[in-house]
Parts: sequence; structure tokens; C-alpha cells
Amino acid sequence: MTYPSIARVNDFWLEGFNHNASDQEYAEHIELCAPHIPYLVRASRQLTGRMVRYLVDQGVRQFIDLGSGIPTRRHVHEVAQERDAECTVVYVDFDPSVVADARDVLAGNDRVAYLAADIRDPESIFGAPERARLIDLSKPVGLLAIETLLYVSDSDNPAALIRSFVDRLAPGSYLGMTHCSENAELRSGLEIFSRMFGEPPDVALRGREEFEGFFAGLDIVEPGVVPVTLWNPLTEEDVGRNAHLAHMFAGMGRKS
Ligand SMILES: C[S@@+](CC[C@H](N)C(=O)[O-])C[C@H]1O[C@@H](n2cnc3c(N)ncnc32)[C@H](O)[C@@H]1O
Repeated sequence: MTYPSIARVNDFWLEGFNHNASDQEYAEHIELCAPHIPYLVRASRQLTGRMVRYLVDQGVRQFIDLGSGIPTRRHVHEVAQERDAECTVVYVDFDPSVVADARDVLAGNDRVAYLAADIRDPESIFGAPERARLIDLSKPVGLLAIETLLYVSDSDNPAALIRSFVDRLAPGSYLGMTHCSENAELRSGLEIFSRMFGEPPDVALRGREEFEGFFAGLDIVEPGVVPVTLWNPLTEEDVGRNAHLAHMFAGMGRKS
């Protein structure tokens, strides 16, 4: 595969092994225009670990991860199964090259499945045999969408989409999300990219209010909607140096 994929670009920033020269070049172009993006990607992966550990501590043992990318570098199943080997995970992504790599990575782990599906079609996920094998919908689920809705445009009504996932889950389930925020720095990064390299990544930046709206009907857990580095940090490394500059919101809601 020679075309750049955002999942493999992330893998480059996370110092993984599942990217190629075109992903690296694309990553370097993005970095040139928006130098803080790799920091946000790393902060987001650390946040995923904190959310998963939190959920396992709340008794959640099954996870659905939307827009998963490459499942390495301390992704959901690694953290969850380290806490409790019984945890099951269904990853979902629609990029065929990512799915192929991901299935290689997960070979032999029969408590994890990687679905090739479009999250804009929830039925294709809930109706999948692998979902039925691994996720019991009568029990709480940890639903995660980490830097995923950024790629779902307003015309696809992401709030209704998230609601349709949550509606299918049992009480006691959780929704954990991050989202790059609407801000001048990222906007100008996209503009610089389009001037230097052509079409920029097609992303939908969203403000706090819109992000909070994705949790409608859920009880937001502490500490609420905050910059990604400030969601229950455990170490200095989690917080980073300039938490207030982390233009990415994180939040989690519980279905009662
Ligand atoms: C920025 S990456 C985030 C990956 C991962 N959640 C993480 O935290 O590293 C976004 C991923 O969402 C996937 N994606 C975007 N739109 C999607 C859709 N409609 N259905 C399924 N996957 C999608 C992309 O292929 C990509 O792998």
C-alpha cells in the first residue's frame, strides 16, 4: 500500500512499525504545518489507556472501539487484557489496508476481533457475527471513539450516529471520546497545508458545546469535558508541559 493512511501516520508518530515511506512523508507535511499534532496523537493514546483502565475498574469487560487504526502501541486490548485477560474487544475501521495490518497484529488473540466496517452504518457492526461472539449486549460495554468523529462530517449527523450506538447498549455502559477542537492554530495549519501540499486532510473540527452534545442523555463522569491531558492524569507525562494548549477535548459519559 503506497497511499498515506491517517492510521499509519498516527503509527509513525507513536513510533510503531506499521507505516511506510508515503505515510512518513505525509506525517512530516502535517507536522510542518501543525507542529503540535504528533503531541496530541501521543496524548490521545495515553488517554485511551487511562480510559480503558478506568472502565475495567468500573467492571466493564467488553469494548467496542470505533475508528481504531492500528491496534498496537498500548491500544485498547493491550491495556484491557493486561488488567483482566477475560476482556473482549471489537475494533472497527473502514480502511482496508489498516484492517489487513490489524488482523496480522491480532492473530492468535481470540478475544479480539477487527471488523472492516463503516461506523456510519451501525447495523453492519452490531449485526456482525464477531460482535455477537465477543460482545454481550445485555452487559455494560465501553464504547470508544478516539479521534474518530473528526472524520465524520456534519452531513452524516455524528450526534445521531453516536446516539444510535449508545441506544443499543445496556445500562451501565460508557461512551469515551476525544475530539480535536475548533481553534485558530489548527485552522491555520490546515490552510498552510493546502497552500504547500494541496488538499489538506478532510477533518471536521468541533467546539466544546458540540462535543458535549455527543454525551446528551449520559451522566458525564469526573472530571467532565477537559483537554485530553487533563482527563484523570496519573503521571507528569500524562499531563505534559502545556495542558492548556492541548486543542483536543476528552470526555466520558455513563448510561444509567
Ligand atoms: C485518527 S485515526 C484514530 C485511530 C485510533 N482511534 C487512535 O486513537 O489512534 C482515525 C481512524 O478512523 C478511521 N475512520 C474514519 N472514518 C471512519 C468510518 N466512517 N468508519 C470506520 N472507520 C473510520 C480511519 O480509517 C482511521 O483509522
